[in-house]
Amino acid sequence: MTELKRFYETFQPTHYNIYLDINRETKQISGTTTISGDAKTQAISIHQKDLAVESVQADDQAVSFTLDRENDAIRIELPQAGETTLTITYTAPLTDSMMGIYPSYYEVDGVKKQIIGTQFETNFARQAFPCVDEPEAKATFDLAIKFDEHPGETILSNMPEKEVKDGVHYFDTTVRMSTYLIAFAFGELQSKMTTTKSGVKVGVFATKAHKANELDFALDIAKRSIEFYEDFYQTPYPLPHSWQLALPDFSAGAMENWGLVTYREAYLVLDPDNTALNMKQLVATVIAHELAHQWFGDLVTMKWWDDLWLNESFANMMEYVAIDALEPDWHIWETFQTSEAPAALRRDATDGVQSVHVQVNNPAEIDALFDGAIVYAKGARMLVMVRALLGDDALRAGLKKYFDAHHYGNATGADLWAALGAASDLNVGEIMNSWLEQPGYPVVTASVVNERLTLSQQQFFIGDGKDVGRQWQIPLNSNYEDAPKIMDQKQLVLGNYKELRRVNGEPFRLNVGNNSHFIVKYDQTLLADLLAEAPKLDAISQLQILQDLRLLAEGHQVSYADLVPLLSKFADSHAYIVNVGLYRIANELKKFVTPDSTEEQQLRTLFDKLSDKQVARLGWTSQAGESNDDQLTRPLVLSAALYAKNEKAMTAAHELFTANHDKLETLPAAVRVFVLRNEVKNFGSAELFDQLLNDYRQTADASYKSDICAALTSTTDKTLIGRLIDKFEDADTIKPQDLRAWFRGVLANDDGQQAAWDWIRNDWQWLEDTVGGDMEFTTYITVIAGIFKTADRLAEFKAFFEPKLATPGLTREIKMDTKVIETRVALIKNEKQAVNEAVSEAIK
Ligand code: BES
Ligand code: ZN
Repeated sequence: MTELKRFYETFQPTHYNIYLDINRETKQISGTTTISGDAKTQAISIHQKDLAVESVQADDQAVSFTLDRENDAIRIELPQAGETTLTITYTAPLTDSMMGIYPSYYEVDGVKKQIIGTQFETNFARQAFPCVDEPEAKATFDLAIKFDEHPGETILSNMPEKEVKDGVHYFDTTVRMSTYLIAFAFGELQSKMTTTKSGVKVGVFATKAHKANELDFALDIAKRSIEFYEDFYQTPYPLPHSWQLALPDFSAGAMENWGLVTYREAYLVLDPDNTALNMKQLVATVIAHELAHQWFGDLVTMKWWDDLWLNESFANMMEYVAIDALEPDWHIWETFQTSEAPAALRRDATDGVQSVHVQVNNPAEIDALFDGAIVYAKGARMLVMVRALLGDDALRAGLKKYFDAHHYGNATGADLWAALGAASDLNVGEIMNSWLEQPGYPVVTASVVNERLTLSQQQFFIGDGKDVGRQWQIPLNSNYEDAPKIMDQKQLVLGNYKELRRVNGEPFRLNVGNNSHFIVKYDQTLLADLLAEAPKLDAISQLQILQDLRLLAEGHQVSYADLVPLLSKFADSHAYIVNVGLYRIANELKKFVTPDSTEEQQLRTLFDKLSDKQVARLGWTSQAGESNDDQLTRPLVLSAALYAKNEKAMTAAHELFTANHDKLETLPAAVRVFVLRNEVKNFGSAELFDQLLNDYRQTADASYKSDICAALTSTTDKTLIGRLIDKFEDADTIKPQDLRAWFRGVLANDDGQQAAWDWIRNDWQWLEDTVGGDMEFTTYITVIAGIFKTADRLAEFKAFFEPKLATPGLTREIKMDTKVIETRVALIKNEKQAVNEAVSEAIK
């Protein structure tokens, strides 16, 4: 892509007057935008996309202009440079793309309705009004909106409504802000309101398809999150209100528009009486994430999109910091350890992955470069590493400096490091740059060589990787004081092992707390020592042992067969996250068995053995006052028991189904998916299929929807699979935003894989037309790569995707995913026999 000149260099807006007239009936927008600013040259450029520009005036004089569609520009020739007020009139279409200004569709009591909302990040404000659509081009905004309004409708925006005159809604002037954070929405909405200690009005808004109490949980979390951040950042929330709005159609997960945060319904509203704890935790962290951005992102914004990671990594860390403060009993950092940490470690081990910080010239490139596991998960891990090095006092002091220095302005990664460095005695930038600018991460090998405890670092790869000698500055966090705080060399000798072991009195460990982004390979002596003590370790450390071993096994550095005997050692743990680590390994073993083989039967027996006692202990229903760990562990062990085809478990699930046959939605949310899946798989019928599909269309409960998706996609009936695939392109049943989960479900189903694979290959063009503009698009390829495991499928994958290698935005994903499948195929070939022997040994 050619280097684009930033439009901000030609014109620097200070204030916008935006008038929009939106007609849902004709799907037309007409608008007039007045922009006051400083023209740096006579020839200036303003962003637009798909706008039919009718006229451009400069200081009330018509001026000539040209539309440069390829570069999203209006090129304007001014009579002179300097302070100028531009007035631009235009029309634009209202499209169903979930970008710019777009409609969301839903039904209440069988009546079809819509809400109009916006999504402007990264570069879609230009589809709504002409503007300098760059994060650095901050200005104030006066918004005025007219629409084909009928009674009972509400309109919301970043700022409160000032007045309504002649059907036009006028909003208060915004603070100085970036275009990508402007938002508004209107339609028939319900709401719940409260006020923070400091007087900020907080509200939650959703369609009337939801019950009123479904808004309560979000309201409480939003209010307390804002109170938390005002204290943590020592910087007040600067707007009069903070609205949270759930939109039925939403391409991302949520969006931090300043004062009007928008969400997928699944990430905001929930039934307070029947939602599983992990879903509540997810919703809470999403809200806390977006509200963290109100300061970090909105008040202080990245200067350019290459620092998008700065926004997202930071918010991704803060969601855990905030929720840990609001709900300490949740131990939410444990969830960080089971979700973000492994996601980052898995993705970042594939050669070809991008670094957290990447150069981008054009925001369109961002969508292509956007890799959640890196920008969010690895980036958050980097900041967690910084937080662990600095401590919260220095972190907060540094942040306060950062906000004071850059509020209502822009900043770069270097500005943050400088502020944090000044608040501590560390050269934060130097340590962090090794993580920020380089892809990948190290495995630190700890071994006893010639009786001396020796450490060495080397880049860790899953699959083929080219070692180019990268090194990192690694915060070691050892339990032995003899290890340095930071390892910045390739190799390091700590001293005589026996002596060290005696003095320290416990097994040698690195990365205690698992806050640094590296894994450890202990040699046999050290690992045996550590494993002997493992039961005494805290849950995060036990999880870490399992997680690091699993990664090492994926990277062919240890054998999966050696992991099998470990499983039963952890199987009776009451710690949820240890069970997560354990069942992740157990589930990975499924790839080594052929369907309906003796090996599969043996693996089922192993699952039965692992889960047996826990199922007996926990049962199907939550006990009053039971621990969070027990609530969260139950689904893991029930799932294992059902995979094992444990008779008792299957019968219990079937009985639960029968007893609730006409009110399936009311089944306890934590186990509902297993009841439904068991029923579909083992007692399925066309009638049940219709009932569930109908419920899917009717319900407003996102958790129930996702359970139905998981159940229906597990059917073994090929006719029903065909009927499901027919629904893939029917947006009245499956919204495009939810399709990926359905596709994944069918593709992961042995009886559905062929049909799903045929569908995506045949209808690739439809998929591209429907979600192609979306960042989710490439993740369809990631989904396929997460499932395929045979040489035949690999060949088919290559045959289909290699011709698409040159498609902008797909290149990296196709290359990486080809490697992912190749690696899995090779792993299975090499280890299948040993793993299956180990399983058969483990069940004796
Ligand atoms: N700002 C992002 C959404 C976004 C990112 C939109 C890049 C366009 C381009 C928002 O804050 C976010 O991170 N959303 C997440 C959910 C979040 C809770 C992890 C998302 O959409 O996945
Ligand atoms: Zn974010």
